Amino acid sequence: MSQTLQMYDPKREYNSHKESIDIAINNVLNHGLFINGPEVRELEASLKEYVGVSDCICVSNGTDAIKIALLALDVRNGDEVITVAHSWISTAEVIPLVGATPVFVDIDKETYNLDSSKLEAAITSKTKAIIAVSLYGQMADFDAINAVAKKYSIPVIEDGAQSFGATYNGKRSCSVTTIGTTSFFPSKPLGCYGDGGACFTNDLELGAKMRAIKNHGGIKRFHHKYIGLNARLDTIQAAILNVKLSYFDQTIEKRQACAAYYSEHLVCLTEKGFQLPVVKNNCTSVWAQYSILANNKEQRDNIVNYLKNNNVNAAIFYPTPLHKQECFQPWLNDTIEHVDSRLVVTNDICDRVFNLPCYGEFTREEQDIIIRLLKEFVRSN
Ligand SMILES: Cc1ncc(COP(=O)(O)O)c(C=O)c1O
Repeated sequence: MSQTLQMYDPKREYNSHKESIDIAINNVLNHGLFINGPEVRELEASLKEYVGVSDCICVSNGTDAIKIALLALDVRNGDEVITVAHSWISTAEVIPLVGATPVFVDIDKETYNLDSSKLEAAITSKTKAIIAVSLYGQMADFDAINAVAKKYSIPVIEDGAQSFGATYNGKRSCSVTTIGTTSFFPSKPLGCYGDGGACFTNDLELGAKMRAIKNHGGIKRFHHKYIGLNARLDTIQAAILNVKLSYFDQTIEKRQACAAYYSEHLVCLTEKGFQLPVVKNNCTSVWAQYSILANNKEQRDNIVNYLKNNNVNAAIFYPTPLHKQECFQPWLNDTIEHVDSRLVVTNDICDRVFNLPCYGEFTREEQDIIIRLLKEFVRSN
């Protein structure tokens, strides 16, 4: 039986850059500065330049990055934070964690990102922040989102966990909002070998505050100005990321080539009502995955099962919208029926989306297997 194709295999990239990564890890093992070592400062300087912002704060993971952003913006009990319900749980779970209420807004049916035309209606006197996710590798419509936010003087956080390296009007993800956050989870476009994340900002005061919050709120030794966290990035992870950042442009190009190959060979599916990914003219995507919409839930589930039965572990990101997750029920700002009725596109996408592996080391032969299976399925169903 052939080997199962997974959504991501971190060993492949490691094997092709093993020598430089081993050296970087060994350097840390030898100097022993496992926390706050020089590699973390080096990474922050490089990431800051890469993204094009004034400050970068490396943190423990992408979830903590959003939590730190909310804490730095003084979001607390009684506040509302607007976000989307089609995302990984992290985007919204941090909102109740700081005591605030998540207010879910619907998404765009082409990009699956926050529908900026629905944003203004969700703003109330309690709105303290907006978290817009740049899902599947493409940035949200930040000109429109920022324009509404500016009108009401509300800060915007970009959750760029899946879009690091992507551009919007030529500007990089994590550079266009009050705070940008990302994740270096292994399967992310820029992934480390454990957990990692970062916050970005052009506001130096906010940057200093986030830097303190990630380190127990301390501004100098034994002086804790803020209630903070232990949320630092390990030096070994920083060392790995320094190496991976040095060839990140090629990583992105390879991901884009992988996506282009799917789009070229799966275009026939659109005649059968499937929707392939849409990348807006002013955007580039880093293809966290390759996402397809089936015609309905039953067809989507059958396809994913068919792929699984043929040794392809396709994924469904995300089968349940966040507003329907049990943990958010006590936190909804309205009855579940009302919230649900406003999230028509979100519900529809969660029912129909499925995701294919899309990364640099995924081979054309492997893609051909998936393409053949999808065509086979469509022909015989
Ligand atoms: C959209 C989104 N936000 C936040 C996160 C959280 O990142 P981490 O797993 O590093 O905490 C993820 C990671 O899966 C994500 O996909």
